[in-house]
Parts: sequence; C-alpha cells; structure tokens
Amino acid sequence: MGKVSTSRPILITGAGKRIGLALARHFLAQQHPVIISYRTRYPVVDELEQAGAVCLLGDFSTNQGIEQFADAVKQHCDGLRAILHNASAWLAESPHSSPADILAAMLQIHVNTPYLLNHYLEPLLRGHGHASADIIHFTDYVVERGSDKHVAYAASKAALDNLTRSFARKLAPEVKVNSIAPAMIMFNENDDAEYRKQALNKSLMKIVPGEQEIIALVEYLLSSQYVTGRTHSVDGGRPLR
Ligand SMILES: NC(=O)c1ccc[n+]([C@@H]2O[C@H](COP(=O)([O-])OP(=O)(O)OC[C@H]3O[C@@H](n4cnc5c(N)ncnc54)[C@H](OP(=O)(O)O)[C@@H]3O)[C@@H](O)[C@H]2O)c1
Repeated sequence: MGKVSTSRPILITGAGKRIGLALARHFLAQQHPVIISYRTRYPVVDELEQAGAVCLLGDFSTNQGIEQFADAVKQHCDGLRAILHNASAWLAESPHSSPADILAAMLQIHVNTPYLLNHYLEPLLRGHGHASADIIHFTDYVVERGSDKHVAYAASKAALDNLTRSFARKLAPEVKVNSIAPAMIMFNENDDAEYRKQALNKSLMKIVPGEQEIIALVEYLLSSQYVTGRTHSVDGGRPLR
C-alpha cells in the first residue's frame, strides 16, 4: 500500500474495539486519515479498512513488536498529526497469576509501548510548525487514588501519566502532550447488574457516559494551541464522592 499523502494521519493504538474504535470511526467520518493498530483482527477491522483506515497489526507484548509496528507506520506516512495511545490491558492481581508477570505485562503496554513509540515516531510528529502535532496518553482515574485489585495496572498508568509531562517538555512547542484520565466510560459486556449499579453510584453524575465524552475531549485537545503537559480527568466528579 502507498503512503497516506492527503493530510497527516492520526494514529490510534488498539482501535479494534470500544473507545479506540469509536475514535477511529469519528475521524474517518470527518475524512481525516487514520492509522490504527489492532492485535486481534476483529471483523470490524475490515470495515475500518473499507472506510479508508490503514490497519496495521501491532502486538506490543514485546519491544520487538513495538519496533516492527513503528517501522510499518513509517512505511505508510511521512508525518503524523497525532498519536492516541489507547491500547491497554486491565489485569488484576490474582492467586493464579505471578505478580512478576502481571507487573511486566502492565509496564509493557502502558509504559514501554508509549515510551518507545513516542521515541521511534518523534520524527513524524516534528517539523510541521508550532503546536501542530499531539500525543495523547490514556491513563485512568486510579492514577490519583491507587487500586487494591489492580495494583500493577494503577502503577503503570501512573508512570504513563508522568511520561506526559516529560514528553511535553521534550517536544514543545511543536508537539503538545496530554493525558486523559477516565473513570468509568463504558461497561464491559459481561458486567453484571450489581456491578453496574455500584459503578453508577461511584460518581456524582450517576451515568456511564460512553465514548462521546472522550471524543469531545480529544477534539478539544487537538484544536488547542496552548494546552500541554496536563492530565484531563473525565470522571463524573468521582473524587468528590
Ligand atoms: N472504558 C473505560 O471505562 C475506561 C476507564 C478508564 C480508563 N480507560 C482507558 O481508556 C482507554 C480505552 O479503554 P477501552 O476500555 O476502550 O480499552 P479496551 O477495551 O481495554 O481496549 C484496548 C485495546 O488495547 C489492545 N491491547 C491490549 N494489550 C495489547 C498489546 N499487548 N498489544 C497490542 N494491543 C493491545 C486490545 O487488543 P485485543 O482486542 O487484542 O485485546 C484492545 O483492542 C484505555 O487506555 C483504558 O485504560 C477506559
């Protein structure tokens, strides 16, 4: 496939489902070029390709996989408008899994992946003018609060939150770097009624808002000329409960 040439694409990691998929569909609907990574090739990846997205296999469970993905991105474009680091895994500690394995997996997807991709793809983000490119890290409300069931997850997302400030310093003023820290945005299919009731009760706003809240914030961050190095909470006022 040839290089994307009309305007610089937005790269979205882990966009085969849920929030990443919604973001990909949103930008495609605006005729904006999109590159996504997928690990599992869901049927919807074909749909994204038909809509014009460049869909690249990206398995970030090894540093080699991350590097191969970055090389593939470079073969498809000479510049990037943004990198949206959406790919994530929500592993909990359990008696059946090794804590060392959980920690390694969480650091791999939430720290190694964005850290290495930001380094490898920096030349594609630079050279387009003041505030003309963005990096957005997806973190989590638990960065602020910690988590008793997802200890390594929370720690790895906290490290990602810190990367936001370092990369903002490093890449300014060409590239803005921000993080979005959501609390509950959408349920998983297998969440039971009791879990849903408890989750709704955790925020002041008492809703599970869906992907549109994230899309609106991403749009705002992309349009800003000035906002960088910040964490943007989307949590329905949960810390105030
Ligand atoms: N949804 C929420 O309510 C919520 C709340 C707080 C924070 N967030 C954050 O917001 C972002 C989007 O959330 P989401 O719920 O839409 O995410 P999600 O459903 O967990 O999807 C994330 C994607 O990341 C991919 N991924 C995971 N590990 C990977 C690896 N090693 N290599 C390559 N791809 C990998 C998954 O691929 P597979 O499909 O192959 O597994 C999946 O498609 C995440 O960063 C999440 O932490 C979401």
